[in-house]
Amino acid sequence: MDRLGELQKTAASIDGWLSPAEGRFLYNSARKCPQSAAIVEIGSWKGKSTVWLASGSKDGNHAAVYAIDPHTGSSEHKKMFGKVWTFEEFKQNVKAAKVDGLVKPIVKTSEAAARNWDKKIGFLWIDGAHEYEMVLLDYKLWEPHLIDGGVIAFHDSQKGGPKKVVNRHLYFGSRFRNIGFVEGITYATKTSHLSIFDKFRNLYVLLLTSIYSFAGQLSLPRPVKALGNRMVKAML
Ligand SMILES: C[S@@+](CC[C@H](N)C(=O)[O-])C[C@H]1O[C@@H](n2cnc3c(N)ncnc32)[C@H](O)[C@@H]1O
Repeated sequence: MDRLGELQKTAASIDGWLSPAEGRFLYNSARKCPQSAAIVEIGSWKGKSTVWLASGSKDGNHAAVYAIDPHTGSSEHKKMFGKVWTFEEFKQNVKAAKVDGLVKPIVKTSEAAARNWDKKIGFLWIDGAHEYEMVLLDYKLWEPHLIDGGVIAFHDSQKGGPKKVVNRHLYFGSRFRNIGFVEGITYATKTSHLSIFDKFRNLYVLLLTSIYSFAGQLSLPRPVKALGNRMVKAML
């Protein structure tokens, strides 16, 4: 089995909501992050996305992965499971994947962790609380640390709070270009100069993502969906 196949198997054994395609995106993005900049994850749960990120970094430039989570769950988890504590399982999963050397857990909310933060960020992954005000707070606290050329990515970005932040600050903002999406993830590259071409391209990708999420709600046969996915990828 190749490296990504092995990783997919490891990640499948960890509880969480990330798909294999989304995991591969995190792996490839983390792999490109320079060692001089940090990889920051807001919202780790039991470490599924952390393992993809840290494995990419391990196969790339060995940038440290700061995994920020109070480990007490988001509001929907508390409703579903009652009292939540995920840190022990998080540590076990990260250790079993042999990436504990690169992962620096910060057992705090993103707001508390941001208070003492002083490092440059090369890849910022936002998958914490999904209420609009919370996603906006994560964005406002952490985006200023992202370097030019650094990449931001949001999970569950085609609905609710993440969608609103992504639309306002990535698609219609003035700081991001090369927007793309992989299933529920929307990502973009930070830039100090947004050209007219970049602005048009951002709107074009917004149109594509709207069509993609509309089609996702229809009950289409699997081969038609797979063909649609391939076409969207080719058009990005
Ligand atoms: C959807 S889960 C993350 C899933 C994880 N990225 C994965 O792929 O397995 C959301 C996580 O955000 C955490 N969380 C909730 N509020 C937070 C906050 N203010 N700061 C940081 N993390 C938060 C929760 O404890 C929960 O573990």
